[in-house]
Amino acid sequence: MEDKIKKILISKEKIADRIHELGKDITKEYKDKNLYVLSLLRGSFIFAADIVREIDLPTKIGFMTTSSYGHSEVSSGCVKVVNDIQDDIKGCDVLIVDDIIDTGITMDFVIGHIKALGATSVKCCVLLDKPERRKLELKPDFCCFEIPDVFVAGYGLNYGDYYRNIPYVFNWE
Ligand code: IMP
Ligand code: MG
Repeated sequence: MEDKIKKILISKEKIADRIHELGKDITKEYKDKNLYVLSLLRGSFIFAADIVREIDLPTKIGFMTTSSYGHSEVSSGCVKVVNDIQDDIKGCDVLIVDDIIDTGITMDFVIGHIKALGATSVKCCVLLDKPERRKLELKPDFCCFEIPDVFVAGYGLNYGDYYRNIPYVFNWE
């Protein structure tokens, strides 16, 4: 991919504007609730850091690592917990934050896992949604952008473990 040209799909300014709006929606939704933001590593680390700073409420923040893709562009369809959530989330209103919902397999798995741990409510928030690729019926509760069926990287999303630090979302021409 290194020799190909990067095409910006979503600029850093557009991302920042949309996150600002979404933060307001989340703040409204979780007012008077017991918010716990669960960031899925590694893909959501940048998005989660930005969105939590736009949520004007007291919140706990935790992390969990799952894996399914490895180094491939195609999902293996099998989700593993690499590092589980560290806190007791009984009684919490958990908002799962991820970079992207693609097939939906990861998010569906994590929602089930968090419900089983006794959360009061479980919703999800993603930077990107690729609805064309869905294998399970699942709609994100909060989403910044819908994108077509193209493999993207940047702003936390990786390709072969690289490009997470690129400040915008791009694909290759
Ligand atoms: P799903 O289980 O198929 O919904 O995939 C979710 C995970 O796959 C995301 O958390 C990403 O880490 C990864 N993923 C899916 N599509 C892309 C992409 O276009 N670029 C980079 N990572 C992706
Ligand atoms: Mg991921």
